[in-house]
Amino acid sequence: MALDKNVKVLVIGAGAMGAGIAHVAALAGHPVYLYDTRTEAIDKGLGGIAQDLDFLVSKGKLDSAAREATMARLTAVTDLDAASDAGLAIEAIVENLDIKQKLFLQLESLLGDEAILASNTSSLSITAMGAVLARPERLAGLHFFNPAPRMKLVEIVSGLATDRAVANTLYATAKAWGKVAVHAKSTPGFIVNRVARPFYAEALRVLNECAAEPATIDAAMRECCGFPMGPFELMDLIGHDVNYAVTRSVFDAYFGDKRFTPSLIQQDLVLAGRLGRKSGRGFYAYGADVAKPVARTEAPATAERSVTAVGSLGVAEPLLAKLEAAGVAVTRKAGPADAAGWLEIGRGRLMLSDGRTAARRTAEEGLSNLVLLDLCLDYATTPRVVLSRADHCGLGAWHAVVGTLQQAGLTVSRIDDVAGLIGLRTVAMLANEGADAVLQGIGSAADIDLAMRFGTNYPKGPLSWADQIGVRFVARVLHNLREHYGEERYRVSPLILRKSHNGDSFHE
Ligand code: NAI
Repeated sequence: MALDKNVKVLVIGAGAMGAGIAHVAALAGHPVYLYDTRTEAIDKGLGGIAQDLDFLVSKGKLDSAAREATMARLTAVTDLDAASDAGLAIEAIVENLDIKQKLFLQLESLLGDEAILASNTSSLSITAMGAVLARPERLAGLHFFNPAPRMKLVEIVSGLATDRAVANTLYATAKAWGKVAVHAKSTPGFIVNRVARPFYAEALRVLNECAAEPATIDAAMRECCGFPMGPFELMDLIGHDVNYAVTRSVFDAYFGDKRFTPSLIQQDLVLAGRLGRKSGRGFYAYGADVAKPVARTEAPATAERSVTAVGSLGVAEPLLAKLEAAGVAVTRKAGPADAAGWLEIGRGRLMLSDGRTAARRTAEEGLSNLVLLDLCLDYATTPRVVLSRADHCGLGAWHAVVGTLQQAGLTVSRIDDVAGLIGLRTVAMLANEGADAVLQGIGSAADIDLAMRFGTNYPKGPLSWADQIGVRFVARVLHNLREHYGEERYRVSPLILRKSHNGDSFHE
């Protein structure tokens, strides 16, 4: 059950996160104490909350009476003793285990026996934080995302000693505050900061292989896969110091698991002080007179009037209707049983990527003029497609494929012949990470999908995405990536393998 609205909430740390959390709790109806060691931080925090509430009033989302009532529920405290009747304490202070432990020791003796202790840490272990307490069972993580009033997700993080009833109360309370709550086990990165790693890592790998420039990869991830921002523009926004530190901390915390290996490219940006937007330069340069580089886009080419679809294009099948609607005649032929189909466009052969390079597929299957298609969230509505071309694909065949897709209204970007292109390898690796998190009991499949949709605004939960494109297909893509690189990083999650063998999906 959620905490009663009369329960007083003490927020410690009035910085970006603390002020946001105080805003959320007060707006939900709780009396809130806001404490910080620096009084100017409290003033700034309260000022920020007032401004945010004014904005809600100006947009008609809050009435003035509710605004006044919310502000009246907030009390600044400069001495923790003044908040000893709080029933829930949430700390959002500096990210330092020692300092947080000292604070919780103090809170443990100050607050009543029933009070719940919560930490907003994004990287420290809740288990370690509670280890110094007499009653670690009443401590849990309550991990909000920035900015707390706007981001829907809250991860409820249980350490080894956390009482399930405490986690359940926090879960219900976060929901009562209008949030999407998920349960997570205290492991490095919890759910979101762990499962999101491949979103950055795969883009950095493709860049490292000089297969495409940041602007093209960003456009692919945004326009083809429906992510709100591309990985490079997002890293520039977060700040490379912060993003690199999270990657490093997850990598170190998993004892150097190769899956989380940081990128030398990003390390270089940090070393150079190119931290992203905040320093005026990251992957992109910022400033009034700087034009942002545009995605590489193929020049207009001549379309074929008719194409032949042999077998099934799998999830890319809706492309056929798009071509027909654009006046391209599509003849359908049966394809080989149990093998991927293709589209014959002039002398070109267009196939959906399966994680192998076009060079390898050309050699293994004795194909000629092979062009590979990357994953799209929805082929019926995508404005852009990303293709790669086998080294031995003739120019005429390539132009026939490009021109015909352009005829269907698609913008075409070419990247080099890299395994799994960009969207497919990223989504497969996100699903792989999500699957391992389920396997290791860090969260349920439903919670992992919710966490990624509401903590990072992904267009789809990675495990639902795997269901949609087929868990067997995802397993094949990962297996091919693993073979291609021979690296531990691409090992297939045992849960993906199991579901693939059984023909099961993550959600019924
Ligand atoms: P911040 O630097 O904006 O604010 C921290 C505040 O805590 C400062 O006002 C500081 O004066 C105060 N403070 C430091 N030590 C204190 C102590 N011993 N007692 C009382 N107040 C103290 O930091 P931010 O970004 O708000 O982060 C706070 C916590 O939230 C950290 O644990 C961080 O990892 C976590 N977090 C941060 C997110 C972000 O995007 N900034 C997202 C999610 C979690």
